[in-house]
Amino acid sequence: MALLHPLIAQFQNAGQAQVFAFFDQLPPDVQASLLAEAGEIDLGEVERLNRTLVAAGGAAAGVNLGGLAPAPFEPLVAHGGDAAAWQEAKHAGEVALRDGRVAAFTVAGGQGTRLGYDGPKGTFPVTPVTKKTLFQVFAEKPLAAGKRYGRPLHWFIMTSHQNHVATEAFFKEHNFFGIDAGRVHFFRQGRMPAVDFNGKILLETRGSLALSPDGHGGSLRALERSGALDLMQREGIDTLSYFQVDNPLVRAIDPAFIGWHLLRGSEMTSKMVPKAYPEEKVGVFCAQAGKIVVVEYSDLPLETQRETDAKGQLRYVAGSIAIHLLDREFIRRMALGGDGATLSFHRADKKIPTIDAAGAAVKPAKANGVKFEMFVFDALPFAQNPLVIETNRADDFSPVKNADGLDSPQTSRDDQRRQFARWLNAHGAALATDATGLPAINLEVAPSFGYDEDSFADSWSRLIPRPALTDGLILS
Ligand code: UD1
Repeated sequence: MALLHPLIAQFQNAGQAQVFAFFDQLPPDVQASLLAEAGEIDLGEVERLNRTLVAAGGAAAGVNLGGLAPAPFEPLVAHGGDAAAWQEAKHAGEVALRDGRVAAFTVAGGQGTRLGYDGPKGTFPVTPVTKKTLFQVFAEKPLAAGKRYGRPLHWFIMTSHQNHVATEAFFKEHNFFGIDAGRVHFFRQGRMPAVDFNGKILLETRGSLALSPDGHGGSLRALERSGALDLMQREGIDTLSYFQVDNPLVRAIDPAFIGWHLLRGSEMTSKMVPKAYPEEKVGVFCAQAGKIVVVEYSDLPLETQRETDAKGQLRYVAGSIAIHLLDREFIRRMALGGDGATLSFHRADKKIPTIDAAGAAVKPAKANGVKFEMFVFDALPFAQNPLVIETNRADDFSPVKNADGLDSPQTSRDDQRRQFARWLNAHGAALATDATGLPAINLEVAPSFGYDEDSFADSWSRLIPRPALTDGLILS
C-alpha cells in the first residue's frame, strides 16, 4: 500500500479528511495541484477561526460594541478647522513628495460581484467623455503628481489569484499608461479556505478547494511577503497612500493629508466624510477604550447609526471612505504580528459553490458556509498616534459599486463632471450648472491637466487661448 502523503495525514488529524475524499480518483496533475492548495492552508489558523467565529455562530461573532463613542477628527477649515495648521500640513506634504517619501497603493483584489462586470474591476471604463478605465485614471494621477513635485512615484497594486494575470496583461497592453514599468508593482494577496457551518473546509470541485481572497486587510501581509516593503525601504519611501479600486475621484496623492500624517507622527491616518444619511453603507470611525476603530455599517445597530446630539447632528457622523496613509514600518509590524499586533478575521456567511458527498456540483440557493476576511481598517487601533482627517466628499469619493442607482457608473461620471465644472468656475469660467452643480455639457479633465484643484489651476492659467465650453470638452 502506498504511503499516506504527510499533508493528507495532517488534514486527517485535523478532522479535515474530506478535502482528500476523491484524491485517489484524480489524475496526477490534479492531485499535485490539490496538494499545493492544501499546502497553502494554515490548519492551526482554520482551527482557531472555527472555534472563535464559526462555532460561536452569527455573522456578527466577535464584534464588540462595548463603550463605543464617536471618534475625534480634524475638521476642514470650512467646518471650523485650523487654517494655519492645514496650510502647514500641505507644505509638509509637498516637501515629502519632493523628497520621494510617498508611494501609491491600490487594493484591486476584490471580485466586483455587485457591479456584475466580468474582468478585473480596474479595467472598467469610468470617465465621462473618453471612457478611461479606473486603472488609467489611477495611473495618471501619481504620474502627474510625480511631474509636479519632480520625483516620479512608485505604484503598488494588490491583485488576487483570480485577476492577477489579467491585470498584468492589461497594463502591458496599455504600456503602463505612460508610467515607467519599473515603478508599477503587482503582487497577489493571500487566500483563505471557506468552511461549512461545521467548520469543514469546502471543496469547489473534487480536485480543488473553495478558496477566496483574504480581504483587503491581507494587503499588510502581502506587502511584506512580496518584498514591497523592502523595495520601499531601498527607495527611501516611508508612507503608502492606500485607496480602493472602485473610487475614480480619489485624491490618490494629497499633500495636506500626507502632511497631517507626517507632522503628527501618525502610523495610520484615514480620511472621513460626514455621512450623507444615517444608514449610508460606509464604515464609521469610532472611539473605543482609548483607541480609534472602524465599525462596519452592517455591525452598527440602526439606533446607533441614527443617534443625534443636542444640536440634532448625527453622533456617529464620520464615514470611512477607505483612504488611508500607512507608515511602512507599521505595516511590517502588523504583517509580522509582533507584540500581538495582528488583524483579526471577520466572518461572512456566503453561498459557496461546492460539491456533495458523491462529488456532484452544488450551487447553493442560500448561505452554506463561511468565508474569512481581514479588513485593513482593523489596523487603526494598533497604530501609534492614529489620526482621522475630514475631506470633501465631492473631491475624494464617488465609488463605482453597483450596476445602477447609488454608487454606480452614472453617479460617478456625474460627480466627475461636477468636480470639473467646480474647478472651471472657481477659476474664471462661466459654465452653467443645475442646482446640484452638474454642468449641462459633458466634459472631462485629464489628470495630466489637473488631478486636483491646484494642479488644474496651474494648467488653466497657462492655457491660452481658452477653449469654448462646448459639449464633449476634453482638457488634457
Ligand atoms: C468598503 C468598506 C467600507 C467603506 C467603503 C467605502 C469594507 C469591509 N468596507 O466597503 O467601510 O466605507 O468601502 O467605499 O471594506 N478588496 C481586495 N481584496 C479582498 C477584498 C476587497 O483587494 O479580498 C478590495 C476591492 O478590490 C476594493 C476594496 O477592497 O477595492 C473594497 O472592497 P468591497 O468589498 O467592495 O468593500 P465595500 O463593501 O464596498
